[in-house]
Amino acid sequence: MQGSLRDAALVLMTGLLSGGAFAQAVELRTPQSFDAIADKTERSRALFVEAGKVIQSPRCLNCHPNGDRPTQGNDMHLHQPMVVRGQADMGATALRCMTCHQGANFAPSGVPGHPLWHLAPISMAWQGKSLGQICEQIKDRKRNGDKSLAQIHEHMARDTLVGWGWNPGGNRTPAPGTQAAFGQLVEAWISNGAACPPG
Ligand code: HEC
Ligand code: HEC
Repeated sequence: MQGSLRDAALVLMTGLLSGGAFAQAVELRTPQSFDAIADKTERSRALFVEAGKVIQSPRCLNCHPNGDRPTQGNDMHLHQPMVVRGQADMGATALRCMTCHQGANFAPSGVPGHPLWHLAPISMAWQGKSLGQICEQIKDRKRNGDKSLAQIHEHMARDTLVGWGWNPGGNRTPAPGTQAAFGQLVEAWISNGAACPPG
């Protein structure tokens, strides 16, 4: 309790100091800092909630919408110009994602980039869902692209499209912590039973 109060105060302070850019101040706790939770299932849930700071950051949610259109920015407004998921989540035939999104972030225009830039399939939609629902979905091989938990960990910890979240270019706020720290949380979540938060 004392620790979380102190963390909240720190986040508040750094948020104020950095001119209100709150999300920028969010760090990730280490898996070890959850050792004090005696019950393994509770510990696993708490680890997922911590990893959820990344999962529910705008950097990830913008590409995991629950409709046909990606969203943009920290306020997650609908993508401008209007683009749609199209076939294979790569955009409409006449306006593919890669028409504008190149292999890397493009500094002069601020357009983000990656060689595989496209939308997460609708079965992997995260927007409008609770963290518990996202958790169940991530574990469900029928919805997660038939990935085992080990493959989910690998994807979170090392996939370079996921990694873009920490190097987003432009004025975008990077995802909290680092991809390595995020990977460790996901690994600990799994080794403690991959339990999902309720709701
Ligand atoms: C540019 C778009 C884009 C961004 C940004 C993005 N994703 Fe994804 N995500 C995808 C696509 C596309 C897939 C499907 C890839 C596949 O099946 O191989 C996917 C799949 C996933 C999966 C697979 C399992 C599932 O059920 O969702 C996970 C986990 C995931 N992303 C995590 C993240 C995290 C964490 C972030 C932010 C740090 C992120 N993604 C940001 C496009 C994106
Ligand atoms: C006509 C050009 C164009 C096309 C086509 C396009 N985009 Fe974009 N996209 C942009 C621009 C420009 C930005 C940067 C806007 C900004 O942040 O100011 C952007 C930003 C984004 C972002 C915001 C990232 C963030 O976290 O802020 C996502 C997600 C995204 N695009 C996904 C897609 C996907 C998926 C497709 C294909 C279905 C696509 N875009 C097609 C021009 C395009």
